[in-house]
Order: sequence, then C-alpha cells, then structure tokens
Amino acid sequence: MMKHAAMEIESSDKGSLGPGLSPLSETLWREKTNTELIGDVSARLTWKDLTVTVTLSTAGETQNVLEGLTGYAEPGTFTALMGPSGSGKSTLLDALSGRLAANAFLSGTVLLNGRKANLSFGTAAYVTQDDNLIGTLTVRETISYSAQLRLPDKMSPSDKEALVESTIVAMGLQDCADTVIGNWHLRGISGGEKRRVSIALEILMRPRLLFLDEPTSGLDSASAFFVTQTLRALARDGRTVIASIHQPSSEVFELFDQLYLLSGGKTVYFGHASAAYEAINLNSAAFFAQAGFPCPALRNPSDHFLRCINSDFDKVKATLKGSMKLRFEASDDPLDKITTAEAIRTLNEYYRTSQHSYAAIQKVDDISKIKGTVLDAGGSQASFFRQSYTLTKRSLINMSRDFGYYWLRLVIYIVVTICIGTIYLNIGTAQAMTQFWYLRFKNARGSCASFVFGFVTFMSIGGFPSFVEDMKVFQRERLNGHYGVTAFVISNTLSAMPFLMLITFLSATICYFMVRLHPGFSHYVFFVLCLFASVMVVESLMMAIASVVPNFLMGIITGAGIQGIFMLVSGFFRLPHDIPKPFWRYPMSYISFHFWSLQGQYQNDLRGLLFDNQSPDLPKIPGEYILENVFQINVNRSKWIDLGVIFSMILVYRIIFFVMIKVNEDVTPWVRGYVARRRMQNKNIAPDALTQSPSLRAYVNRDTRRR
Ligand SMILES: Nc1ncnc2c1ncn2[C@@H]1O[C@H](COP(=O)(O)OP(=O)(O)OP(=O)(O)O)[C@@H](O)[C@H]1O
Ligand SMILES: [Mg+2]
Repeated sequence: MMKHAAMEIESSDKGSLGPGLSPLSETLWREKTNTELIGDVSARLTWKDLTVTVTLSTAGETQNVLEGLTGYAEPGTFTALMGPSGSGKSTLLDALSGRLAANAFLSGTVLLNGRKANLSFGTAAYVTQDDNLIGTLTVRETISYSAQLRLPDKMSPSDKEALVESTIVAMGLQDCADTVIGNWHLRGISGGEKRRVSIALEILMRPRLLFLDEPTSGLDSASAFFVTQTLRALARDGRTVIASIHQPSSEVFELFDQLYLLSGGKTVYFGHASAAYEAINLNSAAFFAQAGFPCPALRNPSDHFLRCINSDFDKVKATLKGSMKLRFEASDDPLDKITTAEAIRTLNEYYRTSQHSYAAIQKVDDISKIKGTVLDAGGSQASFFRQSYTLTKRSLINMSRDFGYYWLRLVIYIVVTICIGTIYLNIGTAQAMTQFWYLRFKNARGSCASFVFGFVTFMSIGGFPSFVEDMKVFQRERLNGHYGVTAFVISNTLSAMPFLMLITFLSATICYFMVRLHPGFSHYVFFVLCLFASVMVVESLMMAIASVVPNFLMGIITGAGIQGIFMLVSGFFRLPHDIPKPFWRYPMSYISFHFWSLQGQYQNDLRGLLFDNQSPDLPKIPGEYILENVFQINVNRSKWIDLGVIFSMILVYRIIFFVMIKVNEDVTPWVRGYVARRRMQNKNIAPDALTQSPSLRAYVNRDTRRR
C-alpha cells in the first residue's frame, strides 16, 4: 500500500523537473550568483581526518565522538549519513557546518572548494534536528515572510509568491498551508508537518550547500519518500546535499547517491550507496558481502546495515536469549554467531583497507587541490530596510496573535491598576494630625508611585517566555544567514512599542484618574510617559538577559534578581541620603531606572501642591518642602531630565542587547574554547592538532583578506 503511494508520487513527477524545483528558482539562482563573473559556484566539501573531541565536565575527561573521518560531498549528489543513535551523525553535521558545541573540538581539515571557510551565517543552510518556528503564523505565512526576508528586493511580488507556492508544493504542505504552526495554547500542525516546514524554509533559497539532520524523522514512508525525492531533485540541480537519515525504507534508500555509514564515531562505509550491497561492476563485489555480512535476500539493505552496526543489538540479544532461547538457536544469520561489537570492528578494519577508502582519500586529495571559488555568505539577498520592515511586521503579527505575549499582560495590568486605584482612591492633600504625619504621607503618594514604578513595571517580566521563543527562532535564522543582528534588534524594539504604549496608556490612565494624582494635562502626560519608558526599560533589560540566558526559568530568576536590586536603591525603601554611599548610592542607584522614575514622578506629583499641616491653624506645607526634606529629592533638576534619562536607558539596554548577541556569537565560543583547550593541554592531549571552536568569523575574514 505504502509502496504503491510512493510509486504514484514518483510517476507523477516524471514529466517535470522533479518536485520542488520551479524553473523560477533557476533564474533566481543565475541572477543571484552572476555566473559569468564568479565562474563555477558549486560547493565541493571535503573533510579529512576529522576528529571531534569533547571535554566532559566531570574531572576534565575527554572523549572522541568522531574519529578520523574522511569523506567528501560533491555538487549533484545526495549524501546520506546513516548509523545507530549516538553514532555521531549530528556531530558530523555540526562539525561540517561549523556549529559544534562549546565543549567540542575539531581536528583535521574541512575544506569548501579547497579552502577553509566558515559555513555559519548563510554560506551553508542547515536544518537541525529541532524545529524552532513561530507558533502563531500559518505555514504559508511562515514561508512567505521568510521569502520576503531573503529574496532580492528587485524580484517582483508575484515571482516571490510563485516561489513560495512551489516550495509549499515541493514539501507536500498544501493541505496544511493555512493552518497555524501551533504553540502552547494553539494546537497546530503535526510534528511531521513541522519538520517539513523547517526544510521548506531552507530549500526556499535553493542553497548551494545544504545540511539536514534527520529530515525524515516523524514522517510516514510515503512522505519520507516524497521529501527525500525533493532533496534529491535539489541535489540533481547542482546543489550539494548531506542529510542524516534514520532507518530509511528501501524506496528512500534507493534515492541515496553516496552513503556514509557511521558507528561509534568511526567510518563503517563510505561510497556509492548501491555498492554497499550489490556489485557495481564485474570486478568488484558488494562491500558488505566482501566483509562477510551479505545482505539476506529478503532484507531491506538499510535495515541490514544498521542491524550489523548497532551494538545495542548485543544487549537486546543478551536479554532475549535468557527468555526466548529457542528462537535464536534456529537462525543461521552470520550475525548471530558473533557479537555486533565484533562485527563493527571487522567492518571498520575492512573498510580501512578497502578500495572504497583509498578511492575516498584519493578523491578528497583531488578535490582539495583545486582552489575553487570562495562562496560568499549566501544568506539574504534583501536590503536591510526590507529585512527590518518584514521582521517588524512578522513580529507584530506574532505579538498580536499570541495571547501570552502582551494581551495577558494587558489584562493583568488593568486589574492591578484598578486595585491600586481603589486602594489609593482620591488620595488628596489632607494629612493626619500626628507627629509622624510625614510617615503617613510617605505611605500614601510616595508608596503609590513606588508601587506603580516598582511592581507594576516588574510585571513586565511575564513576557520573558515569549522572548525566549523569539530568541530561538532568531538563533536558527541568524545562523542560516537570514538577516543581521541589527535588523532583529530594531524590529524587536519597534514591534513591541505599540503594545507597550497601549498597556501603559490604559493602566496609567486608570491609575491617574482613580487616585487623582496632580491635576493638569502635562502631569498626566508625564505620568504616562514615565510608566511607558520604565516598562520599555524592563522589556529591554529582559531582552538583554534573554540573549545571555536562553532558558526561561533561569532568565526570569536573573531578571527578577536584577530588578529587586534596582528597586532597593530606588530611594523609597531607603531614602537617597541613607543609602550607603560606596557602591549602593554611587553608582548603583544611578543605574537603577526605578531611582530616576521615582525622582521624576515625585516631582511631577508634589511640586506645586499644598499639604495640610499638623493642625489647621498652621500654614500649609508646600510640595517642594516635602520633596526636599521628606523624599530628599533634588528639586533643581527638572523632572523632564529624569524622564530623558530613562528614555536613554532604553537605548543603552538595546545596545547592550545587540552587543550581547555579538559577544555570544564571536567571543564566547573563543573563550570557552580557550579554557577547554587549556584543560586538555593539562591532560597532555596533542594540543596543536586542535583548532578553535567554530562560529568565529575570523576564518572568513582571513580568507577574504588573502584574496
Ligand atoms: N558536546 C558534547 N558533549 C558531550 N558529549 C557529546 C557532545 N556531542 C556529542 N556527544 C556524544 O557523542 C555521541 C554522538 O552524538 P550525536 O548527537 O552526534 O549522535 P547521533 O548519531 O546524531 O544520534 P541520534 O540519531 O540519536 O540523533 C553521543 O553519545 C553524545 O552523547
Ligand atoms: Mg542526531
């Protein structure tokens, strides 16, 4: 039945170029690369003696995850990486694409067109094992925003749309094109469909070099076949495609050009996929048969390979033998006579001395000798303004649809401000006739302002989980070169503004009129603006934290801690003159936005008002007196300056946010790499062989400079 479905798909494609490749993409490709000027733009990737070592956090131990891998991927071929779980497939893809974890080190050479290159930020596209998508957009919107972000500005909207539609068809997503992706409160498309959306986003631009980590996991055999077929068509179009694939069906296996079999980080086989189980010409024999493990007639070749090299079968067998002895004794499979561990060793040994291995080494040497074109960071073709505009629009739509992003906060803000309004209702200027009048006083207007600017702004922390989701999407798109950091920071700032304006406008208005703060339009405007600026600062602060601490629980704790400290030095819990001078007053209180907002708001509220004295016979007390003597506020500084300081803090935090992302991209991997290298040096493990941890743009720069 499944096979039948797959055949149908295959036959329906015969007339055309193959699924997913509209002629349009070809024009785009030509335009984009300007073939006459640059010449050959295909990507030839080679890796030689690739070893990846990871340091394990416990007592500085190290472990080789990959050992001495040699191989290549050529344009026009589809290379499949296969191996049992934990054999290092993802690690190999990470190593090739320059995205190894911070504790992993690469030795050996990875060359693109005979040169060292950094494949991050757009040179290669990489669909990783997890799908980070914006949950509130539909499939079509997701793909079409991605197209807007990256296709050249001069391409007409109808061409863009045609490309988007053809990509949707290429991934078989027509039926769910208008369904939302789904998030915590929206049930959306299925897991397999998400997988296909992630792939669609990368094949959209027809990258020259494409890595995919398990593109077919979670798909049934018909759609796995369909997706693999599309990928192969992409490869046939002159692109280089490398994908790791788990347990392919025999139809899918037949689509592979090259097969890279890994077990325990070592090569078991690398060569033509078909040569692994059948003789390709008269004077050669099938690799597995030669090595002593012929594929039984009725077994799917890929199942056979994985059966041979999955050492977990030893454990399974051992367990089963205890309970179901008879079954195993009857079989005459060669694999039952030896353990899988031995089979792997035999295959490793056999491969190392086989013609396949020599041929691979020869080919790698041949390819790396030719210094081909330096592929520029492909990524986005759109202008900076187009990127910022599209991102802002996309982000606005996401925020307006995600109930948890701002709407929930709006509700809570209104509820809380109504509470404030009723508790401090018509606050007035009357003071109790007591010696401690100023204490009561402080507790009314002062504590109201302090609550509004302390706790109400604090509630903005609630958006953090949504920021973290945004950051994940950003990270994926950034590493694939969809847009730059600046465009992201700008769009994020702009799109948040309307929502924060609405929230702060409504809550400040409720609070202002219910409490009856200092009457007058300019006082009202100041109050609204001050609340807006403060919430914006919190938002910016939390974004900066999200760029460093990408986990929402840890991020909320960090953010709450920082704001708690700022609140302490705001001048309410301890009066400004009482705050200990070293550190807490200078500089901490000046760094705290709470301090500035309270200084401004106290002036805004009290200046010009007259307050009742202890007894009605005594003259009224002017607000300025209270400001100076009770709140210890500098009355010579205009409240507008205080507001200006808060606004400039927004800018500062946004810059910090930008810098943090840059630091994370460039400096942190280097520092971590350095520390781990030192640790390995102490353990005397060939330190010179280790190169830096990836994601350093230094490689690219060095190469371009040499040119
Ligand atoms: N940074 C790292 N630190 C520690 N161990 C690591 C690291 N990276 C990979 N490993 C280990 O290396 C092995 C290979 O991992 P990898 O993710 O490449 O496997 P895989 O073949 O992709 O498996 P799967 O099919 O389950 O995705 C695993 O045992 C893993 O625990
Ligand atoms: Mg993996």
